Amino acid sequence: SYRSRSAFKLLEVNERHQILRPGLRVLDCGAAPGAWSQVAVQKVNAAGTDPSSPVGFVLGVDLLHIFPLEGATFLCPADVTDPRTSQRILEVLPGRRADVILSDMAPNATGFRDLDHDRLISLCLTLLSVTPDILQPGGTFLCKTWAGSQSRRLQRRLTEEFQNVRIIKPEASRKESSEVYFLATQYHGRKGTVKQ
Ligand SMILES: C[S@@+](CC[C@H](N)C(=O)[O-])C[C@H]1O[C@@H](n2cnc3c(N)ncnc32)[C@H](O)[C@@H]1O
Ligand SMILES: *[C@@H]1O[C@H](CO)[C@@H](O)[C@H](O)[C@H]1NC(C)=O
Repeated sequence: SYRSRSAFKLLEVNERHQILRPGLRVLDCGAAPGAWSQVAVQKVNAAGTDPSSPVGFVLGVDLLHIFPLEGATFLCPADVTDPRTSQRILEVLPGRRADVILSDMAPNATGFRDLDHDRLISLCLTLLSVTPDILQPGGTFLCKTWAGSQSRRLQRRLTEEFQNVRIIKPEASRKESSEVYFLATQYHGRKGTVKQ
C-alpha cells in the first residue's frame, strides 16, 4: 500500500540497478506524497526493521506537506532551489552527506510542452549545482525529466561529474509518455569540486 503509483517506478529502477541497499543515506527531492520515501525506507532499512542489517537514513523534501512516515525525516514545506534548504538538508543528514540523491520533482505543468521541459531541466540543473555539497563521492543521482531539447545539456553535465550515466524509461511510466529518468552513478564531481 504505497501513497502513490510512482513507487513502482523507483522499485523498477532499483530492481534493475540496485541503487538502494541497507545503511545508505537517501535525499528524496520532491517527495510528496511520500511513495518514493516509503520505498527508500524499506530498501535502506531506515526504520531498522531488519535488525541484522545496517540502518540507513531517508530525508524527504517538498514544497507541499508530507504526512509523517516511520523511518523518514521530512523537510516541508521547503523549496529545494532555495539555498537555505541546502543548509537545512546538510544539518539533518548524518555526516552531512547523502549516498543517493533522488529527484522525482516536477513543476506544475502549464501544458506548454517546451516551457514545462525547460523548467524541469533547470530544476534538475539547480539540484546538480548543490550536489558537490551534499553527495558523497561515489554516490548516485537519479532524476526525472520530460524529454526535450535541453536533455542533452543535462546529460552532458552529468557525464562530467559521474562515471556512468544511463537514460531510463521505466515500464511503470510508459503512460506518461515524455517522462525519462537519468541515472548517474559513481560521483566524482568536476575536477577539484568534490569536498571531502
Ligand atoms: C511527481 S511528485 C513526486 C511524487 C513522489 N516521488 C512520490 O513517490 O510520492 C513531484 C513533487 O515535486 C515537488 N516539487 C516541485 N518543485 C519543487 C521544489 N523546487 N522543491 C521541492 N519540491 C518540489 C512538487 O511539490 C511535487 O510534490
Ligand atoms: C503547484 O500548485 C499548487 C497549488 O497551486 C501549489 O501549492 C504548489 O506549490 C505548486 N507546485 C509547484 C512545484 O510550483
